Amino acid sequence: MKLRFTINFFVLASFCLVFMSNSGGRASIFGEGNTGAPGDDSKTCASCHGGGDFGAEIEIKMFDMTGSEVSEYLGGETYTVQAQITTTSTPGGYGLQMVGLIDNGDVDTEGFSNPSSNSQIVSAMGRTYLEQQGLSSSDVFESDWTAPVNGSGSVSFYAAGHASNANGSTNGDDSTQSSITFQETTVSNTLDEQLQLTVYPNPVDNFTTIKWGNDKAVNISVSDITGKVVMNTEALGTQTELNLSSLNTGIYFLSIIDNSNNRKTVQKITKR
Ligand code: HEC
Repeated sequence: MKLRFTINFFVLASFCLVFMSNSGGRASIFGEGNTGAPGDDSKTCASCHGGGDFGAEIEIKMFDMTGSEVSEYLGGETYTVQAQITTTSTPGGYGLQMVGLIDNGDVDTEGFSNPSSNSQIVSAMGRTYLEQQGLSSSDVFESDWTAPVNGSGSVSFYAAGHASNANGSTNGDDSTQSSITFQETTVSNTLDEQLQLTVYPNPVDNFTTIKWGNDKAVNISVSDITGKVVMNTEALGTQTELNLSSLNTGIYFLSIIDNSNNRKTVQKITKR
C-alpha cells in the first residue's frame, strides 16, 4: 500500500513537471493571457516572476515589408511586429507574451502568422497570443502581423515578459510589461486597391507574372532583404513578366511605383 502510494506520487509528480511546466507559455499551458491587456487575466508575469534586477524593459516595434519601422498601419497590410526585452545586465534567458487588440472594444486582431523560431501563436481566452516556446536565449520575439480591415481604427499591442536568471523557478527574475498604440493610416499610399496587384507564381522558380489593374507606366524594382536593389525595370500596360532566374534563392521585396502619381506598393516574393 505504501509502495503503491509512493509510485503514484512519483507518477503524478512527473506528470506535473512535464505538463504543468510554465516554460512553454502561459496561454499554451494554462490558457491564460497575462499581458496586462484589458480583458486579459488579472495576473501578469510580475505576479509570479520577480525578485531579480536585470533592468528589463520591453520595446514593441512594427516594421513594414521593406523593413522600415512604422508608427501607423494600413488596413489589410502585413507587417512584422517585434517585442524586444532590453536589459542592463545579461540574464539567463527571456520569456514573453503579446497580444494585439483593436482599441474599439478591445477586440483581438487575430493577425499573427509566421512566428520567430523562439515563439509560437496560441489561442486562449478567445484571443491569439504570441508567446515563448520555453525559455528563449534571444531577447527578440517576432511575428508577421496582418492588420485588420480598413476602418478598424487604432490598434494596441500589449506585451509582458521577463528576463530570467534561469534557475527553473520564479525567484530572481525581472518582469516587465509595455504597450504601444498604432493609429490607422487614412491616406492610402499603396496601389493594391487601385491597381489590384497580383504576382504569380509566388514562390517563383524563374519567371513570375505581375499584373496591375490600370493602364499606367510603372517602375518595378526587386530588392533583397538588406534593401539592396537587385533588379529594376519599367513597364507599360497592365502586366509584365519578370525573369528572376539570375537571383539566388531567398526572400525578396517587389516594389512597384506608379509613375503618374508616385504611389507605391511592396510585396514579398520568395525565389526557390
Ligand atoms: C501564476 C504564476 C505565473 C505567472 C503569472 C507566470 N509564470 Fe512563468 N513560471 C511560473 C513558474 C512556477 C515557473 C517555474 C516552473 C516551471 O517551469 O514550470 C515559470 C517558468 C517560466 C519560464 C521558464 C524559465 C524560467 O524563467 O524559469 C518562462 C520562460 C516563463 N515562466 C515565462 C512567463 C511569462 C513570459 C509570463 C508572463 C506572460 C509568466 N511566465 C507568467 C509561474 C508563472
